[in-house]
Amino acid sequence: MHAPLDRPLTPEQLGAAAGATVTETGIGVDGALRVWEDVLAPACLSVDHPRYLSFIPGAPSKAAAAFDMLVGASSVYGGSWLEGSGAVYAENQALRWISDLVGLPEGAGGVFVQGGTIGNLSALVAAREAARHQRQGRRPARSVLLSDETHSSVKHSLQVVMNAGIVTVPGDERGRLTGAGIRATLAELPEHEIDEIFAVVGTAGTTNAGVVDDLAGIAQVARERGWWFHVDGAYGGAGLAAPSVRHLFTGVEHADSFIVDPHKWLFAPYDCCALLYRDPVLARAAHTQKAGYLDPVNVEGEWNPSDFSVQLTRRARGLPFWFSLAVHGTAAYSNAVEQTLRVARAGRELIETAEHVRLLVEPDLSVLIFERIGWSDADYAVWSSRLMTAGFAFVTPTRHAGRVCTRFAIVNPETTVNDLAMILDSMK
Ligand SMILES: Cc1ncc(COP(=O)(O)O)c(C=O)c1O
Repeated sequence: MHAPLDRPLTPEQLGAAAGATVTETGIGVDGALRVWEDVLAPACLSVDHPRYLSFIPGAPSKAAAAFDMLVGASSVYGGSWLEGSGAVYAENQALRWISDLVGLPEGAGGVFVQGGTIGNLSALVAAREAARHQRQGRRPARSVLLSDETHSSVKHSLQVVMNAGIVTVPGDERGRLTGAGIRATLAELPEHEIDEIFAVVGTAGTTNAGVVDDLAGIAQVARERGWWFHVDGAYGGAGLAAPSVRHLFTGVEHADSFIVDPHKWLFAPYDCCALLYRDPVLARAAHTQKAGYLDPVNVEGEWNPSDFSVQLTRRARGLPFWFSLAVHGTAAYSNAVEQTLRVARAGRELIETAEHVRLLVEPDLSVLIFERIGWSDADYAVWSSRLMTAGFAFVTPTRHAGRVCTRFAIVNPETTVNDLAMILDSMK
């Protein structure tokens, strides 16, 4: 049995049903729990419902979810070795597993941060700082090369937070950033603009279509140009654990930094992103905060997680993932990712053989993007809302090549081929 899908309510509906919950004298444990159980929780979608297939869902293992409660109830500070050495040791073992899957060297390491957004931002801040040191005397580098399909959070971080420039390279016919595409763009760019580039971002599993960029080709250009190579595997990085698709990631071993969100396809609860650096010394140079009161935590180069990202105080958010990995073993993780890939492949066949829908991008991983032949924007909106209101499925419209369509993002091992078939039938 899984939790019901549930659905959002309007502020007016919630106001009428829940009333004022924060009062001068308190409503007591029973009162607060009742309002949560009866009104508020049912107004939050269950992202781990097997037919929640929008955006990127989550599917925490029971072990990870249970341990999250323990972490929440323990007063563990995860920012420094001094205060949280046991927690940091365990987190680092989980990071080691990911680092080995990527193929990073022994000295690689990093930190669990809140999500892919903070992971990507922290990596690119480290990249810019490394470039600043390398380029002494030269004009500061300020741009990052990426593709149309690079996640919006990367573009947002560069433009809004880092005030950096963006060079966008058109993707190939499946939207992949390739070495050849980068070379073609560079051939058209004035030399001074090329000189401003300090990093390139490859995506290992684009969010909308789930395709993996040409990581080997990108790595080659990055090496030739002396750029930092960051790989955003927030969603798709979990595929590294699946032998059937591991070959798609060839080249990821050259990454200077890499992220994957265990809260997406690695069965951990929100919010959890693994951020790894090939050379953690470069990350420390960018992120270590200095203040008199912090001196006691930086004595002999201890592994302080806060040295590797833009945040200081941190919950030991890698622990639920670590606990589940320790309980079940890494083979169970490979099997679970392979299970979702099998369902995605069967879903692809259903779409290919049905007459009313058309696959839009050949999938690499577990995202299927497709259209309902003959439908308008309004048809998708009505259908999507009908499925959600019925508590049956959460499948939202998206856009591909300027057209409205829809997609299945499958990360839950409990999602079945029959679930996909029923949703496809509802589009007839
Ligand atoms: C490829 C990719 N990068 C980055 C992000 C942002 O991650 P988060 O939402 O965990 O901050 C996402 C989120 O879906 C993503 O799919």
